[in-house]
Amino acid sequence: MISNTKLLELAAHYGTPLFVYDGEQVINCYRDLYDFIPCPTLQIHYALKANYNIGLLKLLRDAGSGIDAVSPAEVELALRLGFAKDKIIYTANNMTDAEFDKVCATGVVMNIGSLSRLRKIAGTRKGMKLCLRFNPDVCDGDSIHTMTAGALTKFGILLSDVEEVKALVKEGDLHVIGLHEHTGSGLQHAESVYTAMGKLMDIATPENFPELEFLDFGGGFKVPYQPGEARIDYVAMGAKIASLFADFCKRYGKELVMRFEPGKYLVAESGVLLTEVNTLKRNRERLIAGCNSGFPQLIRPMLYGAYHIIDNLSNPGGPRALYDVCGNICETGDRFAEQRELPEIREYDILAIRNAGAYCYSMGSIYNLRSMPGEIVLKEGKVIYQRKRLTDSEMIDAILKEGADY
Ligand code: LLP
Repeated sequence: MISNTKLLELAAHYGTPLFVYDGEQVINCYRDLYDFIPCPTLQIHYALKANYNIGLLKLLRDAGSGIDAVSPAEVELALRLGFAKDKIIYTANNMTDAEFDKVCATGVVMNIGSLSRLRKIAGTRKGMKLCLRFNPDVCDGDSIHTMTAGALTKFGILLSDVEEVKALVKEGDLHVIGLHEHTGSGLQHAESVYTAMGKLMDIATPENFPELEFLDFGGGFKVPYQPGEARIDYVAMGAKIASLFADFCKRYGKELVMRFEPGKYLVAESGVLLTEVNTLKRNRERLIAGCNSGFPQLIRPMLYGAYHIIDNLSNPGGPRALYDVCGNICETGDRFAEQRELPEIREYDILAIRNAGAYCYSMGSIYNLRSMPGEIVLKEGKVIYQRKRLTDSEMIDAILKEGADY
């Protein structure tokens, strides 16, 4: 953990708003999963969508991680950073023909989640190697928006469509080398992981899919966001996962590779967003602490009602009061926390918004024309990567350049 003193030093030196990531923690989380899940064939593919910071990606690449990519640009970024193509999986979602062709040309294995695309492949890409994504019919996740299976989701092929899948595979002489499912993000119940694995393993028979090389059980490993929230017992969960998979491999008659694609688990806790309070005001009973960041830079509270711990680094021992911690964006919903008890906030205090490593920077935008914060990656207390914040003029130059011909 980066100390609060160090965070204050970084805020003073680099300015705020600023994302700070602990690179060591990311690598420790990556290695932990190999300790927790005692499966000799385990492969972890980092879900790049959680955070595409180059400093973190290089650390994960050097540690041996694969990549779960969800757009052609994510595939290109991973390839250009030197991730081997056989360590990347492209989980396509409503892809265009042009996107399909582009990723096909790279040789990266595609994970196909619709009968529509499978039909096109069977018709035009005879003999293609691919992975198939099924909907495991288990509903879990930390928000209705982050559950990616069950009756309401757009993802995956229905388990009940397996016969039609087999017919298309035969028609196209396709080679199904992997099966995939992803239940959701921030899975609340260990049981959901086992059930979803079971649903996929039930259809992964040698009769249905004789050429399997791997099963990919997606991401979704939860980390605590609330104060005092219990950490899942990943040692127990890992043991159960490994034993379920070992039994499956015996039934299948071959030792397959087990894959997981965590995003949050690897990067969420490594990150913090530092922001400075510049305006204190009162709206009747409400104390409002206005800071120099806003929801375009960390949208999870506004989008999902997500809770992020906030620490007042500048006045940790101050008398406690309730605050609405608001941003600098022209919308009332622009709040990081509502009626949150915090040590007294004074103007120019630095707040640390915790667990800002996953789905914060990567979901950011420049709404209201405020450029995204700078980013720092630390390892062993040293800054190993810095991405500077665009100045207003640099951001405006880029916008004007796009419209230069008009
Ligand atoms: N694999 C697939 C196919 C996915 O769709 C996802 C996440 C992952 C892996 C990684 O899931 P994770 O391990 O990070 O839970 N923006 C939301 C999370 C959306 C996740 C979407 N898919 C949030 O901030 O909570």
